[in-house]
Amino acid sequence: MDQVKFNVEAMHIKDHGSRQLSQETVQKLISQSQEVKEQAYCPYSKFRVGAALLTRENRVFTGCNVENACYNLGLCAERNAISKAVSEGYRHFKAIAIASDVDDQFISPCGGCRQFMREFGPNWDVYLSKPDGSYRKMTVDELLPGPFSL
Ligand code: THU
Repeated sequence: MDQVKFNVEAMHIKDHGSRQLSQETVQKLISQSQEVKEQAYCPYSKFRVGAALLTRENRVFTGCNVENACYNLGLCAERNAISKAVSEGYRHFKAIAIASDVDDQFISPCGGCRQFMREFGPNWDVYLSKPDGSYRKMTVDELLPGPFSL
């Protein structure tokens, strides 16, 4: 696990195929997750979440949570971003950044989202962030040991 604190500013993704992301890329990804959090549709929980997913090809797909009056139909930000990427033909992921408004703990993905991430491999990175841009990095495998698989 890595924990780093820094200022967030908009930058272009410029990593090319490396497993280890540059600090600029991490900052940019977290910044994008914070931006899309603004789109969260969460009239029931009032808990805004944003996610930014970086593909192997250095494309970024973002997603926010989308709730529903039928509560159990609500969609998490992470699953939204992953579904957008898969729908566009991208299935190989380097990292996902997650943002919320909680400033005293790093936003951690729910169990369902961990399983959803694991579908696309154990060995990619999840950046759990705070609003100030600080983060904790964990792999999908660390977040979900012993996953269900077929
Ligand atoms: N939520 C996410 O979008 N991602 C998570 O990993 C945790 C929870 C959303 C679901 C719901 O809209 C709100 O946060 C409160 O649970």
